[in-house]
Amino acid sequence: MKAARLQVIGTVAGLIGVWAMTAGGCANEQQKRGQELYAHYCMHCHGESGRQNEGFNWSSMPDPKPKDLSNKSEMGTFKDEDIFNTISRDMKDTSPDGDKIGDDEFAVPTMPTFKYTLSEDEIWAIVGYVRTLHGMKLEFKVEERKKELAEGLKAAQDKFDQAKQAYEAAEKKASEEAEKKSAELKKDVEVDESAYAKEQAAMAQAKKELDAAQVALNNFSTRPGKGTSVPRPDLTMKPEQAAALAEVGKKLYSNKYGCNGCHSIGEEGGKVGPALDRAGFRLNGTWVYRWVKNPQAMKPETRMPALGLSDADAKAVTMYLNTLRAPKAEPPVEKTAS
Ligand code: HEC
Ligand code: HEC
Repeated sequence: MKAARLQVIGTVAGLIGVWAMTAGGCANEQQKRGQELYAHYCMHCHGESGRQNEGFNWSSMPDPKPKDLSNKSEMGTFKDEDIFNTISRDMKDTSPDGDKIGDDEFAVPTMPTFKYTLSEDEIWAIVGYVRTLHGMKLEFKVEERKKELAEGLKAAQDKFDQAKQAYEAAEKKASEEAEKKSAELKKDVEVDESAYAKEQAAMAQAKKELDAAQVALNNFSTRPGKGTSVPRPDLTMKPEQAAALAEVGKKLYSNKYGCNGCHSIGEEGGKVGPALDRAGFRLNGTWVYRWVKNPQAMKPETRMPALGLSDADAKAVTMYLNTLRAPKAEPPVEKTAS
Protein backbone atom coordinates (compact mmCIF):
# COMPACT_ATOMS: atom_id res chain seq x y z
CA MET A 1 0.00 0.00 0.00
CA LYS A 2 2.74 2.42 0.94
CA ALA A 3 4.45 1.97 -2.40
CA ALA A 4 1.21 2.68 -4.26
CA ARG A 5 0.65 5.85 -2.26
CA LEU A 6 4.14 7.14 -2.95
CA GLN A 7 3.54 6.51 -6.61
CA VAL A 8 0.37 8.63 -6.64
CA ILE A 9 2.12 11.50 -4.90
CA GLY A 10 5.01 11.15 -7.30
CA THR A 11 2.64 11.54 -10.24
CA VAL A 12 1.02 14.62 -8.72
CA ALA A 13 4.38 16.22 -8.02
CA GLY A 14 5.40 15.38 -11.59
CA LEU A 15 2.31 17.10 -12.97
CA ILE A 16 2.96 20.23 -10.90
CA GLY A 17 6.48 20.21 -12.29
CA VAL A 18 5.27 20.02 -15.88
CA TRP A 19 2.76 22.80 -15.29
CA ALA A 20 5.35 25.01 -13.67
CA MET A 21 7.46 24.60 -16.81
CA THR A 22 4.64 25.40 -19.22
CA ALA A 23 3.16 28.18 -17.07
CA GLY A 24 3.67 31.68 -18.44
CA GLY A 25 5.08 32.52 -21.81
CA CYS A 26 2.31 30.73 -23.67
CA ALA A 27 -0.35 33.43 -23.50
CA ASN A 28 -0.37 33.71 -27.30
CA GLU A 29 -0.79 30.00 -27.70
CA GLN A 30 -3.76 30.02 -25.30
CA GLN A 31 -5.25 32.93 -27.22
CA LYS A 32 -4.90 31.08 -30.50
CA ARG A 33 -6.41 27.96 -29.00
CA GLY A 34 -9.33 29.98 -27.64
CA GLN A 35 -9.91 31.52 -31.04
CA GLU A 36 -9.92 28.13 -32.79
CA LEU A 37 -12.32 26.62 -30.27
CA TYR A 38 -14.60 29.66 -30.52
CA ALA A 39 -14.62 29.36 -34.31
CA HIS A 40 -15.57 25.69 -34.06
CA TYR A 41 -18.15 25.74 -31.24
CA CYS A 42 -19.54 29.29 -30.92
CA MET A 43 -19.23 31.25 -34.13
CA HIS A 44 -22.27 29.83 -35.94
CA CYS A 45 -24.48 31.44 -33.28
CA HIS A 46 -22.41 34.35 -31.93
CA GLY A 47 -20.58 35.44 -35.10
CA GLU A 48 -16.91 35.91 -35.80
CA SER A 49 -16.59 39.13 -33.80
CA GLY A 50 -19.44 38.37 -31.38
CA ARG A 51 -21.94 40.75 -32.95
CA GLN A 52 -25.62 40.08 -33.38
CA ASN A 53 -26.87 38.59 -36.63
CA GLU A 54 -23.32 37.75 -37.70
CA GLY A 55 -23.39 33.99 -37.18
CA PHE A 56 -25.20 32.02 -39.90
CA ASN A 57 -27.52 30.45 -37.33
CA TRP A 58 -28.43 33.69 -35.53
CA SER A 59 -31.62 34.58 -37.35
CA SER A 60 -32.98 30.99 -37.45
CA MET A 61 -32.87 30.64 -33.69
CA PRO A 62 -35.86 30.94 -31.40
CA ASP A 63 -35.77 33.89 -28.94
CA PRO A 64 -33.74 34.93 -27.03
CA LYS A 65 -31.17 35.42 -29.78
CA PRO A 66 -27.48 34.81 -28.99
CA LYS A 67 -26.03 37.61 -26.93
CA ASP A 68 -23.77 40.32 -28.36
CA LEU A 69 -20.36 39.31 -27.02
CA SER A 70 -18.72 42.48 -28.38
CA ASN A 71 -20.80 44.76 -26.15
CA LYS A 72 -18.41 45.90 -23.44
CA SER A 73 -20.95 47.78 -21.35
CA GLU A 74 -22.90 44.56 -20.86
CA MET A 75 -20.16 41.89 -21.02
CA GLY A 76 -17.97 44.02 -18.75
CA THR A 77 -20.43 43.44 -15.90
CA PHE A 78 -19.57 39.70 -15.93
CA LYS A 79 -16.61 38.29 -14.03
CA ASP A 80 -14.42 35.72 -15.82
CA GLU A 81 -15.94 33.06 -13.56
CA ASP A 82 -19.48 34.10 -14.61
CA ILE A 83 -18.67 33.55 -18.27
CA PHE A 84 -16.97 30.26 -17.43
CA ASN A 85 -20.04 29.10 -15.47
CA THR A 86 -22.36 29.93 -18.37
CA ILE A 87 -20.31 27.85 -20.80
CA SER A 88 -19.75 25.06 -18.28
CA ARG A 89 -23.04 24.40 -16.50
CA ASP A 90 -25.77 21.79 -16.19
CA MET A 91 -28.81 22.35 -18.39
CA LYS A 92 -32.03 23.21 -16.55
CA ASP A 93 -35.57 22.20 -17.48
CA THR A 94 -37.28 25.55 -17.99
CA SER A 95 -40.78 24.02 -18.36
CA PRO A 96 -43.31 25.47 -15.90
CA ASP A 97 -43.22 22.17 -13.98
CA GLY A 98 -39.46 21.76 -14.53
CA ASP A 99 -36.40 22.59 -12.40
CA LYS A 100 -36.19 25.31 -9.75
CA ILE A 101 -34.28 28.20 -11.29
CA GLY A 102 -32.88 31.07 -9.27
CA ASP A 103 -33.62 34.67 -10.31
CA ASP A 104 -30.08 35.49 -11.39
CA GLU A 105 -29.30 32.01 -12.68
CA PHE A 106 -28.49 31.70 -16.40
CA ALA A 107 -30.76 29.03 -17.84
CA VAL A 108 -31.36 29.66 -21.55
CA PRO A 109 -31.79 26.20 -23.13
CA THR A 110 -30.59 27.31 -26.57
CA MET A 111 -27.19 28.39 -25.22
CA PRO A 112 -25.58 24.94 -24.99
CA THR A 113 -23.28 23.82 -22.21
CA PHE A 114 -19.76 22.65 -23.08
CA LYS A 115 -19.09 21.12 -19.68
CA TYR A 116 -19.38 17.60 -21.09
CA THR A 117 -17.52 18.31 -24.33
CA LEU A 118 -14.42 20.36 -23.57
CA SER A 119 -11.72 20.23 -20.91
CA GLU A 120 -11.64 22.93 -18.27
CA ASP A 121 -8.53 24.58 -19.67
CA GLU A 122 -10.10 24.65 -23.15
CA ILE A 123 -13.08 26.48 -21.68
CA TRP A 124 -10.75 28.97 -19.95
CA ALA A 125 -9.03 29.52 -23.30
CA ILE A 126 -12.44 30.30 -24.81
CA VAL A 127 -13.29 32.70 -21.97
CA GLY A 128 -9.97 34.43 -22.61
CA TYR A 129 -10.84 34.79 -26.27
CA VAL A 130 -14.40 36.02 -25.53
CA ARG A 131 -12.80 38.74 -23.36
CA THR A 132 -10.90 40.06 -26.38
CA LEU A 133 -14.18 40.42 -28.34
CA HIS A 134 -15.16 43.26 -26.01
CA GLY A 135 -11.68 44.63 -25.50
CA MET A 136 -10.93 43.08 -22.11
CA LYS A 137 -8.39 40.61 -20.77
CA LEU A 138 -8.79 37.41 -18.77
CA GLU A 139 -7.77 38.05 -15.19
CA PHE A 140 -8.56 34.66 -13.74
CA LYS A 141 -5.38 32.77 -12.78
CA VAL A 142 -5.73 29.54 -14.72
CA GLU A 143 -2.32 28.19 -13.66
CA GLU A 144 -3.27 28.60 -10.01
CA ARG A 145 -6.49 26.73 -10.57
CA LYS A 146 -4.46 23.81 -11.99
CA LYS A 147 -2.23 23.78 -8.94
CA GLU A 148 -5.23 23.91 -6.63
CA LEU A 149 -6.71 20.84 -8.28
CA ALA A 150 -3.43 18.93 -7.98
CA GLU A 151 -3.12 19.94 -4.34
CA GLY A 152 -6.75 18.97 -3.79
CA LEU A 153 -5.99 15.50 -5.13
CA LYS A 154 -2.98 15.11 -2.86
CA ALA A 155 -5.01 16.22 0.17
CA ALA A 156 -7.81 13.79 -0.75
CA GLN A 157 -5.24 11.00 -1.10
CA ASP A 158 -3.81 11.77 2.36
CA LYS A 159 -7.27 11.86 3.89
CA PHE A 160 -8.14 8.54 2.29
CA ASP A 161 -4.92 6.93 3.51
CA GLN A 162 -5.60 8.08 7.06
CA ALA A 163 -9.18 6.88 6.94
CA LYS A 164 -8.00 3.52 5.61
CA GLN A 165 -5.47 3.16 8.41
CA ALA A 166 -8.09 4.02 11.01
CA TYR A 167 -10.44 1.47 9.48
CA GLU A 168 -7.81 -1.26 9.39
CA ALA A 169 -6.83 -0.58 13.01
CA ALA A 170 -10.46 -0.66 14.19
CA GLU A 171 -11.17 -3.83 12.26
CA LYS A 172 -8.04 -5.50 13.64
CA LYS A 173 -9.02 -4.55 17.18
CA ALA A 174 -12.52 -6.00 16.73
CA SER A 175 -11.15 -9.31 15.38
CA GLU A 176 -8.61 -9.54 18.18
CA GLU A 177 -11.37 -9.04 20.71
CA ALA A 178 -13.44 -11.73 19.05
CA GLU A 179 -10.47 -14.10 19.14
CA LYS A 180 -9.82 -13.36 22.78
CA LYS A 181 -13.45 -14.04 23.64
CA SER A 182 -13.42 -17.23 21.59
CA ALA A 183 -10.41 -18.43 23.59
CA GLU A 184 -12.06 -17.51 26.91
CA LEU A 185 -15.42 -19.06 26.10
CA LYS A 186 -13.90 -21.94 24.13
CA LYS A 187 -16.35 -21.43 21.25
CA ASP A 188 -16.48 -19.33 18.09
CA VAL A 189 -17.41 -15.70 18.70
CA GLU A 190 -18.27 -13.56 15.67
CA VAL A 191 -16.43 -10.30 15.01
CA ASP A 192 -18.53 -7.31 16.06
CA GLU A 193 -18.81 -5.43 12.75
CA SER A 194 -20.59 -2.48 14.33
CA ALA A 195 -17.40 -1.73 16.25
CA TYR A 196 -15.73 -0.42 13.09
CA ALA A 197 -18.78 0.68 11.05
CA LYS A 198 -17.99 4.36 11.63
CA GLU A 199 -14.43 3.98 10.31
CA GLN A 200 -15.69 1.99 7.35
CA ALA A 201 -18.20 4.71 6.42
CA ALA A 202 -15.54 7.41 6.80
CA MET A 203 -13.25 5.45 4.50
CA ALA A 204 -15.99 5.06 1.87
CA GLN A 205 -16.67 8.80 2.03
CA ALA A 206 -12.96 9.61 1.68
CA LYS A 207 -12.80 7.29 -1.33
CA LYS A 208 -15.65 9.18 -2.98
CA GLU A 209 -13.86 12.46 -2.41
CA LEU A 210 -10.64 11.01 -3.75
CA ASP A 211 -12.39 9.82 -6.92
CA ALA A 212 -14.04 13.22 -7.39
CA ALA A 213 -10.70 15.01 -6.95
CA GLN A 214 -9.18 12.66 -9.52
CA VAL A 215 -11.97 13.34 -12.02
CA ALA A 216 -11.69 17.10 -11.47
CA LEU A 217 -7.97 17.00 -12.16
CA ASN A 218 -8.40 14.77 -15.21
CA ASN A 219 -11.15 16.99 -16.63
CA PHE A 220 -8.87 19.97 -16.33
CA SER A 221 -6.79 18.93 -19.27
CA THR A 222 -8.69 16.00 -20.81
CA ARG A 223 -12.11 16.17 -22.47
CA PRO A 224 -14.69 14.56 -20.15
CA GLY A 225 -16.20 12.11 -22.64
CA LYS A 226 -12.88 11.03 -24.08
CA GLY A 227 -12.47 7.28 -24.33
CA THR A 228 -15.91 6.52 -22.87
CA SER A 229 -18.45 4.67 -24.93
CA VAL A 230 -22.18 4.70 -24.19
CA PRO A 231 -23.65 1.24 -23.47
CA ARG A 232 -26.54 0.13 -25.68
CA PRO A 233 -29.88 1.10 -24.10
CA ASP A 234 -32.87 -1.19 -23.70
CA LEU A 235 -35.59 0.60 -25.63
CA THR A 236 -38.21 -2.12 -25.62
CA MET A 237 -41.47 -0.87 -24.13
CA LYS A 238 -45.22 -0.88 -24.59
CA PRO A 239 -46.65 1.61 -27.14
CA GLU A 240 -48.44 3.60 -24.36
CA GLN A 241 -45.20 3.93 -22.49
CA ALA A 242 -43.38 5.04 -25.64
CA ALA A 243 -46.05 7.67 -26.30
CA ALA A 244 -45.86 9.02 -22.73
CA LEU A 245 -42.06 9.17 -22.88
CA ALA A 246 -42.18 10.94 -26.25
CA GLU A 247 -44.31 13.69 -24.64
CA VAL A 248 -41.65 14.16 -21.95
CA GLY A 249 -38.94 14.09 -24.59
CA LYS A 250 -40.66 16.79 -26.63
CA LYS A 251 -40.52 19.17 -23.66
CA LEU A 252 -36.92 18.33 -22.86
CA TYR A 253 -35.98 18.89 -26.52
CA SER A 254 -36.88 22.60 -26.40
CA ASN A 255 -37.17 23.52 -22.72
CA LYS A 256 -34.09 21.83 -21.29
CA TYR A 257 -31.56 20.98 -23.98
CA GLY A 258 -32.45 23.59 -26.59
CA CYS A 259 -31.98 21.12 -29.47
CA ASN A 260 -34.19 23.51 -31.46
CA GLY A 261 -31.41 26.11 -31.32
CA CYS A 262 -29.45 23.98 -33.80
CA HIS A 263 -31.98 21.67 -35.48
CA SER A 264 -35.16 22.47 -37.34
CA ILE A 265 -38.47 20.63 -37.37
CA GLY A 266 -40.66 22.03 -40.12
CA GLU A 267 -40.03 25.75 -40.52
CA GLU A 268 -38.87 26.22 -36.94
CA GLY A 269 -35.40 25.99 -35.46
CA GLY A 270 -31.71 26.48 -36.07
CA LYS A 271 -29.66 25.08 -38.91
CA VAL A 272 -26.32 24.14 -37.38
CA GLY A 273 -27.29 20.46 -37.53
CA PRO A 274 -29.50 18.54 -39.99
CA ALA A 275 -33.30 18.97 -40.01
CA LEU A 276 -34.95 16.34 -37.83
CA ASP A 277 -38.42 16.24 -39.48
CA ARG A 278 -37.90 12.70 -40.66
CA ALA A 279 -35.68 11.45 -37.83
CA GLY A 280 -38.22 8.72 -37.00
CA PHE A 281 -37.78 7.17 -40.44
CA ARG A 282 -34.13 7.83 -40.97
CA LEU A 283 -32.50 7.08 -37.63
CA ASN A 284 -32.29 4.02 -35.46
CA GLY A 285 -33.30 4.54 -31.80
CA THR A 286 -30.25 2.88 -30.29
CA TRP A 287 -28.01 5.01 -32.46
CA VAL A 288 -29.87 8.23 -31.54
CA TYR A 289 -29.65 7.44 -27.82
CA ARG A 290 -25.92 6.82 -27.96
CA TRP A 291 -25.35 9.87 -30.17
CA VAL A 292 -27.16 12.37 -27.91
CA LYS A 293 -25.48 10.98 -24.79
CA ASN A 294 -22.00 11.43 -26.20
CA PRO A 295 -21.66 12.65 -29.81
CA GLN A 296 -17.87 12.99 -29.41
CA ALA A 297 -17.56 9.26 -28.78
CA MET A 298 -18.80 8.68 -32.34
CA LYS A 299 -17.38 11.74 -34.05
CA PRO A 300 -14.73 13.51 -31.94
CA GLU A 301 -14.77 16.82 -33.81
CA THR A 302 -18.52 17.22 -34.26
CA ARG A 303 -19.93 20.68 -33.48
CA MET A 304 -22.78 19.12 -31.53
CA PRO A 305 -21.89 19.28 -27.83
CA ALA A 306 -22.64 16.56 -25.31
CA LEU A 307 -25.32 18.24 -23.20
CA GLY A 308 -25.16 16.00 -20.12
CA LEU A 309 -28.37 14.04 -20.77
CA SER A 310 -29.22 11.54 -18.04
CA ASP A 311 -30.13 8.03 -19.21
CA ALA A 312 -33.82 8.79 -18.60
CA ASP A 313 -33.69 12.10 -20.51
CA ALA A 314 -31.82 10.48 -23.41
CA LYS A 315 -34.47 7.76 -23.59
CA ALA A 316 -37.32 10.30 -23.61
CA VAL A 317 -35.65 12.45 -26.29
CA THR A 318 -34.99 9.32 -28.38
CA MET A 319 -38.67 8.31 -28.17
CA TYR A 320 -39.65 11.84 -29.22
CA LEU A 321 -37.37 11.84 -32.27
CA ASN A 322 -38.86 8.48 -33.23
CA THR A 323 -42.27 10.19 -33.61
CA LEU A 324 -40.92 12.69 -36.17
CA ARG A 325 -42.14 11.23 -39.43
CA ALA A 326 -42.92 14.07 -41.78
CA PRO A 327 -43.68 13.01 -45.35
CA LYS A 328 -40.85 13.40 -47.86
CA ALA A 329 -40.75 16.92 -49.27
CA GLU A 330 -42.63 16.95 -52.57
CA PRO A 331 -40.45 17.68 -55.55
CA PRO A 332 -41.38 21.13 -56.88
CA VAL A 333 -44.33 20.80 -59.25
CA GLU A 334 -43.43 21.73 -62.78
CA LYS A 335 -45.68 24.46 -64.01
CA THR A 336 -46.92 23.40 -67.39
CA ALA A 337 -48.49 25.85 -69.74
CA SER A 338 -51.93 24.67 -70.72
C1 HEC B 1 -26.89 27.31 -30.59
C2 HEC B 1 -26.42 28.66 -30.48
C3 HEC B 1 -25.35 29.00 -29.50
C4 HEC B 1 -24.09 28.47 -29.43
C5 HEC B 1 -23.50 27.35 -30.27
C6 HEC B 1 -23.40 29.19 -28.41
N1 HEC B 1 -24.22 30.12 -27.85
FE1 HEC B 1 -23.77 31.45 -26.38
N2 HEC B 1 -25.68 32.09 -26.31
C7 HEC B 1 -26.69 31.64 -27.12
C8 HEC B 1 -27.95 32.19 -26.65
C9 HEC B 1 -29.30 31.91 -27.24
C10 HEC B 1 -27.65 32.99 -25.53
C11 HEC B 1 -28.63 33.71 -24.59
C12 HEC B 1 -28.87 35.12 -24.96
C13 HEC B 1 -29.67 35.83 -23.91
O1 HEC B 1 -29.85 35.33 -22.81
O2 HEC B 1 -30.12 36.94 -24.21
C14 HEC B 1 -26.20 32.92 -25.36
C15 HEC B 1 -25.52 33.60 -24.37
C16 HEC B 1 -24.15 33.56 -24.22
C17 HEC B 1 -23.42 34.34 -23.25
C18 HEC B 1 -24.01 35.35 -22.27
C19 HEC B 1 -24.39 34.66 -20.99
C20 HEC B 1 -25.12 35.53 -20.00
O3 HEC B 1 -24.89 35.31 -18.80
O4 HEC B 1 -25.93 36.36 -20.39
C21 HEC B 1 -22.10 34.03 -23.42
C22 HEC B 1 -20.93 34.58 -22.63
C23 HEC B 1 -22.02 33.03 -24.46
N3 HEC B 1 -23.28 32.77 -24.93
C24 HEC B 1 -20.85 32.46 -24.92
C25 HEC B 1 -20.80 31.39 -25.81
C26 HEC B 1 -19.59 30.68 -26.14
C27 HEC B 1 -18.21 31.05 -25.65
C28 HEC B 1 -19.94 29.67 -26.99
C29 HEC B 1 -19.08 28.59 -27.57
C30 HEC B 1 -18.30 27.82 -26.63
C31 HEC B 1 -21.36 29.79 -27.21
N4 HEC B 1 -21.85 30.82 -26.47
C32 HEC B 1 -22.09 28.96 -28.06
C33 HEC B 1 -26.56 30.76 -28.18
C34 HEC B 1 -25.43 30.02 -28.49
C1 HEC C 1 -24.82 23.49 -30.99
C2 HEC C 1 -25.66 22.86 -31.96
C3 HEC C 1 -26.35 21.57 -31.64
C4 HEC C 1 -27.16 21.27 -30.56
C5 HEC C 1 -27.47 22.14 -29.36
C6 HEC C 1 -27.70 19.96 -30.80
N1 HEC C 1 -27.21 19.47 -31.99
FE1 HEC C 1 -27.66 17.67 -32.80
N2 HEC C 1 -26.33 18.00 -34.29
C7 HEC C 1 -25.61 19.16 -34.47
C8 HEC C 1 -24.73 19.00 -35.61
C9 HEC C 1 -23.74 20.02 -36.14
C10 HEC C 1 -24.97 17.70 -36.11
C11 HEC C 1 -24.29 17.02 -37.31
C12 HEC C 1 -23.32 16.08 -36.72
C13 HEC C 1 -22.03 15.92 -37.46
O1 HEC C 1 -22.02 15.25 -38.48
O2 HEC C 1 -21.04 16.46 -36.95
C14 HEC C 1 -25.98 17.11 -35.27
C15 HEC C 1 -26.52 15.82 -35.45
C16 HEC C 1 -27.60 15.33 -34.77
C17 HEC C 1 -28.30 14.11 -35.10
C18 HEC C 1 -28.01 13.21 -36.29
C19 HEC C 1 -28.84 13.76 -37.42
C20 HEC C 1 -28.65 13.07 -38.74
O3 HEC C 1 -29.51 13.27 -39.59
O4 HEC C 1 -27.64 12.40 -38.92
C21 HEC C 1 -29.29 13.97 -34.19
C22 HEC C 1 -30.33 12.86 -34.12
C23 HEC C 1 -29.21 15.08 -33.28
N3 HEC C 1 -28.18 15.88 -33.65
C24 HEC C 1 -30.07 15.28 -32.22
C25 HEC C 1 -29.94 16.32 -31.30
C26 HEC C 1 -30.72 16.43 -30.10
C27 HEC C 1 -31.82 15.48 -29.69
C28 HEC C 1 -30.27 17.54 -29.44
C29 HEC C 1 -30.70 18.03 -28.10
C30 HEC C 1 -30.61 17.07 -27.02
C31 HEC C 1 -29.24 18.14 -30.27
N4 HEC C 1 -29.06 17.37 -31.37
C32 HEC C 1 -28.57 19.30 -29.95
C33 HEC C 1 -25.67 20.29 -33.70
C34 HEC C 1 -26.38 20.41 -32.51
